[in-house]
Amino acid sequence: MSTRRAGPLTGRVRVPGDKSISHRALIFGALATGTTRITGLLEAEDVINTARAVEALGAAARKQGDVWEITGRGVGGLRQPDGPLDFGNSGTGTRLMMGVVAGHPITVTMMGDASLSRRPMRRVLAPLIEMGLEILEPGKETLPLTLRGTSELMPIVYRLPVPSAQVKSAVLIAGLHAAGKTTVVEREATRDHTERMLRHFGAVVATETKGAETYITVDGDAELAGKDIVVPGDPSSAAFLAAAALIVPGSDVTIEGVLINPTRTGLYTTLQEMGGDISFENVRDEGGEPVADIRVRASRLKGVRVPAERAPSMIDEYPVLAAISAFAEGQTRMDGLAELKVKESDRLMATAAGLAANGASAQVDGDTLTVNGASGLKGGGIVATHLDHRIAMAFLTAGLASEAPIIVDDTNMIATSFPEFRPIMETLGAGFDEVRQ
Ligand code: S3P
Repeated sequence: MSTRRAGPLTGRVRVPGDKSISHRALIFGALATGTTRITGLLEAEDVINTARAVEALGAAARKQGDVWEITGRGVGGLRQPDGPLDFGNSGTGTRLMMGVVAGHPITVTMMGDASLSRRPMRRVLAPLIEMGLEILEPGKETLPLTLRGTSELMPIVYRLPVPSAQVKSAVLIAGLHAAGKTTVVEREATRDHTERMLRHFGAVVATETKGAETYITVDGDAELAGKDIVVPGDPSSAAFLAAAALIVPGSDVTIEGVLINPTRTGLYTTLQEMGGDISFENVRDEGGEPVADIRVRASRLKGVRVPAERAPSMIDEYPVLAAISAFAEGQTRMDGLAELKVKESDRLMATAAGLAANGASAQVDGDTLTVNGASGLKGGGIVATHLDHRIAMAFLTAGLASEAPIIVDDTNMIATSFPEFRPIMETLGAGFDEVRQ
């Protein structure tokens, strides 16, 4: 697909439901007794794969009108699936479900696409093995994997070696099934949707800060009861619209009903520091999460230094931030990006390569990415997406204001997280062209 230089982007739009919250709503609904009703579930490939997985494990997940109804089987009540579970492109679905499988006396083969099959699973398997999970191919650390869980999981205290909400969540989910209290210790705050939603379902989750660390403890032998969930708009999807509105002259866009949980808003803080005209309007609480309408107007941006501590709260947003940093005046330096290397692609390299292909000066030095802004981007290059939805959307966004069009080699993966990306951008006034390669 190729971009076209856009005229002012204007209008009020909504983005689909948050991906992290959607996965969790399906999984906790499956582990609860009774019915969970989910409004605003993200109907993208990653989440649909999680819905299929919980169904294969014996829960029911059906859409009635606009609402997804999940009939759960209770903590420890899921059953042996008939075949392998295919998680497609989704690291979140895979890793959270490893925590579920760990707590059931079932043997499950998990698989995924070429991108997911390269991603590290040891970070999740290590604590789960400590609790009692078995891998049938000992020593293997990438999908496909066959795992055997147990109804006799041991509780543990686990200090996260990497700042990962997926690892934290997998251990807490397994902890629901253990006999006793399971604690995860984190140094850097990662997204806390698991903690919030588990409480909503009736689990006992305690959070305590001790010095620089946070101790998150879940009580085992938990009982979850089906609940109503309203999924707010995904700030990681809204990020592309906000970025586009900033760089396309004359734009004024409002994105309604977006999640503004502080563990997710690092990008918006950074864009404001860069001089972006961004305001959170009509701030409210919806279903235990803070939500706002985000208004963004085209702005002259200046380069900033993004501190490493902010990385967990904007980890999925670096590709788009880097792409629009080319439009800023001066240098934007992003530190602490080690985790970007193990996402759907090596996003550090893919982002730098995409920028270089389009005439920007970008350097990777260890875990730091630096973009030398030139108050614009030449464009004219081809971006290799490496099966990564966010690389595709980041450069389709930057191409709305580049001098020459940007060609993105593969846009199929956008359907994993934000199938409405193109129609929503078009509603605002953007246009794209199909290209033959
Ligand atoms: C997610 C956590 C993050 C993020 C991913 C979703 C989650 O991954 O990149 O898109 O829902 O818990 P890590 O936990 O591996 O950082």
